[in-house]
Amino acid sequence: MLNGKFIGVKEKSSVFTVENKFIVKNAGKAILRATALGLYFAEINGVRVGDRYLTPGWTSYNKMLQVQEYDVSALLKEGENVLTLTVGEGWYCGRLTWKSKIKMYGRQSAVCADLILSDGILSTDESWTAHESYIRESGIYDGETVDYTAQIKPLTICEVPFDKSALVEQICEPVRDIERLAVKEVIHTPAGELVYDFGQNMAGVVEIKTPEDFNGTLTLQFAEILVNGNFYTDNLRSAKATDRFTVNGAKTICPEFTFHGFRYMKLTGGELPKENVTAIVRHTDMKRTGHIQTGNTRFNRLYENVIWGQKGNFVDVPTDCPQRDERLGWTGDINAFCTTAAYNYDIRAFMKKWLADVRNEQAEDGTIPHVVPDVLGRNNYGTAALWCDVIVFVPWKLYQMYGDITFLQDNFEAMKKYMTAYETNIENGLVVHGFNYGDWLALDGEEFKKSIFGRTDTVFLASAFYLECLRIISDVANVLGDVAERDYRKKHMQTLKAIRTEYVTPNGRLACDTMTAQALALSFGIVPEEFRAATAKALNENAEAHKYCVATGFAGTPYLLFALADNGYSETACKILMNNGFPGWLYEVDMGATTIWERWNSLMPDGTPNPDGMNSYNHYAYGSVMEFVYRRIAGIEASEAGFKKIRIAPNPCKGLATVKAEYESVNGKIVSGYEQKDGKIKFTVEIPQGVQAEMILPNEKPLIVTSGSHVYERAWEELTN
Ligand code: BGC
Repeated sequence: MLNGKFIGVKEKSSVFTVENKFIVKNAGKAILRATALGLYFAEINGVRVGDRYLTPGWTSYNKMLQVQEYDVSALLKEGENVLTLTVGEGWYCGRLTWKSKIKMYGRQSAVCADLILSDGILSTDESWTAHESYIRESGIYDGETVDYTAQIKPLTICEVPFDKSALVEQICEPVRDIERLAVKEVIHTPAGELVYDFGQNMAGVVEIKTPEDFNGTLTLQFAEILVNGNFYTDNLRSAKATDRFTVNGAKTICPEFTFHGFRYMKLTGGELPKENVTAIVRHTDMKRTGHIQTGNTRFNRLYENVIWGQKGNFVDVPTDCPQRDERLGWTGDINAFCTTAAYNYDIRAFMKKWLADVRNEQAEDGTIPHVVPDVLGRNNYGTAALWCDVIVFVPWKLYQMYGDITFLQDNFEAMKKYMTAYETNIENGLVVHGFNYGDWLALDGEEFKKSIFGRTDTVFLASAFYLECLRIISDVANVLGDVAERDYRKKHMQTLKAIRTEYVTPNGRLACDTMTAQALALSFGIVPEEFRAATAKALNENAEAHKYCVATGFAGTPYLLFALADNGYSETACKILMNNGFPGWLYEVDMGATTIWERWNSLMPDGTPNPDGMNSYNHYAYGSVMEFVYRRIAGIEASEAGFKKIRIAPNPCKGLATVKAEYESVNGKIVSGYEQKDGKIKFTVEIPQGVQAEMILPNEKPLIVTSGSHVYERAWEELTN
């Protein structure tokens, strides 16, 4: 796949450049193929090649390393040319996790490339020269130090051994500069610091333009929030998130091998007019597919917060957060957020690449790591409900959204292996062993026990997720026509029986009374049909008793509103969604959030960060609520995988008098919305060509509709925005 050798340097060097001067006789078509153990970018004759950043991305490098390809024909000239490749440590051997692990994948960064010219191939080997880079140091968490005045010293090339069988073609879209944000406000804080506010929490870098007469070092630091008006970085924990640029004269500078999660940038070493400072949003260049617009400004902000949460955490790997010493591919977070993400953007390629790594990282015994790529080690493997279940849930969710059967084919073996791993944690049909995160960060346990695991009984929660894994894998086997279906269905029945024996009383009461337990029981079919209504009623009363606040955590939240709406309590679901109280989605909006927070109370009502720490202001997990808005309020849902058949069943929500949702499915664009005015409601839908839709207006019988636009007007009680 690549002829070149992996080359690095003998000296200790955070960043280095390798170089080759070569003669081109006939400048024709030229292709550069390259990858690195670390991060790299290429330049030909001083011009940066391509528009990709953080290449080759983050994978379980020793098992899978992506190769990038660039058409560089336009950059070459006849005569002498120079190809340089600059290499940073990145995820490969830089600092990772809050435990400051280094050299996770190998001791030394290196690069490997072939330049394919019309008259031959130029490949990296020991004959190349190496020197220091003007990028002096760079780390994902700590930031980048660039010194354009540094004396660049030569370095010594060496070959770095690497097993090339791990090389694969690039699977997903690259990370690119997607948007540029101007400074909203220049702030002189009470502490006397100079801070630039971009008005939006995001992931990326800041580009600085120094004026002609500048000579010195600018230091840029990054923060998500101000506390009492001051720049606040405690929540970044050990991540230094600091860029330093030493420059003499006019220059446009922005870092290469790092990114930050921030809204605010503190500048020291000079004062620049705001026109010279721009935030660049960098993330995987996915196609946007979903949009929701309503007449309610606060709700629209919530929706934007979810979108920004995705932009900030789809930087090559689906991460928990983009700012602190973590930024890891936490499996539970993406399991919760996956369907919302797939409505918002086309995430097929992005998830294909990541799922390949989930399989790469799966242990021999079938267990799955809590983060992928795995950097936490063997103690963080298992069958943790929601987290490790990702290998079963996520391919299924993606198959539903895209109808692409390879999501099932590619992952079925891994799913089966995983279900075997579950067996060791089961006693009498219930999941009683193995580590679980429970209902992570649900506030219902925190009040009394200071527990970040929520109040829901862990055995119930884990067994419920196991049951759902069995249901999904049975359905997967069915789609694939695999005989294993029978055994999984049988096991599903046995598990259901065991859970009912333990947790559903003979008269139908659920022994575990949290909102999460009730929502899971309804969503995963745990309560017998005859007791469904009673459980739904109990959940509704629970919601009322909690003043329509969200008492659920990572595990329960994605199911809560569905469990209510699908069992006759749509109005309650909407009350929770639109609640201004704490904890709730709009509470965050009212507190000024521009992304979704990690905890419901990451900012306390007085505007200070939660004193317990672990406060990320850019965590997409609770953004999973938009799945409910797309599927139940706008009512856009696939009734056959990949939207080959669709169901449109809008559910007007109090507080949202107008809603318009669009989804560009793989089978065409679907629109659904309503507008309420003067005692009437107007539903507008658009069905793509060649797709059959079932249209279900509230309290009416389903209609079959065909492609094109349709409008339905009905009498309706007043909805306010
Ligand atoms: C992460 C999460 C993750 C969790 C697991 C946190 O540190 O930020 O979002 O899922 O750990 O418990």
